[in-house]
Amino acid sequence: MIDLHCHVLPGVDDGPETWEEALALGARLADEGVTLAVATPHFFWARSPNPDPMMIRAHLARLNHALQGRLRLLPGAEVRIVPEVRDWAGRLTSSSANGDRALLLAGTSSVLLELPPEIVPPGVERLFFELLTVGVRPILAHPERNSAIRRRPERLRRFVEQGCYIQVDAPSLLGDHGQEARRAALRWIEAELVHVVASDAHGLRARPPKLRRAWEEIVRAYGEAVARALFIENPKAIVEGRDLA
Ligand SMILES: [Fe+2]
Repeated sequence: MIDLHCHVLPGVDDGPETWEEALALGARLADEGVTLAVATPHFFWARSPNPDPMMIRAHLARLNHALQGRLRLLPGAEVRIVPEVRDWAGRLTSSSANGDRALLLAGTSSVLLELPPEIVPPGVERLFFELLTVGVRPILAHPERNSAIRRRPERLRRFVEQGCYIQVDAPSLLGDHGQEARRAALRWIEAELVHVVASDAHGLRARPPKLRRAWEEIVRAYGEAVARALFIENPKAIVEGRDLA
């Protein structure tokens, strides 16, 4: 599997606190069948300053070395949709400075974006439009956990029609974020509105990766071809910079 969303860097956000915990999480992802994962620390997050992209690369080099090829970790970010993100998007061009492009997923032209918990801020469609205009693909992280989107799923459909990809969290499929989030995620998979399932893992105790169990859930509900698309083929195409079929 390819995991496009996890918090595996030690001492950076609300992921692992220590190197030991970070390595244990990396090993668990590998045990679950993940061969490639994108480390996506929070950016524009109220609870911590933006991490330094150089530090992210240094941490990843150390983790990759310690994991000895069992799992390859690439740099990325989970970007909270706040007003400052418009400024960042406005600076993005194909020749943007490395600092700005460091927020993209694994050096591709995709970005993982996260809504605030309960609302859809005004101007989200405009932000997606601006990103797509400069060739950057928005991937919306875990909309099933946003109550405003659950109430008005037609907004999700509009995002997809705009060109946005949708990622749901594996634990949501198992009810870890409530039954409403679970039902919404399953309904949207059935409606072909979901492109990727990712772990959004934060550690082994709080919010562990549950990709294997979520895979089994999806195979049971929709068959293996759907599981392969959501857990393997689509995330693989995204990290390789290809558009989805
Ligand atoms: Fe996350």
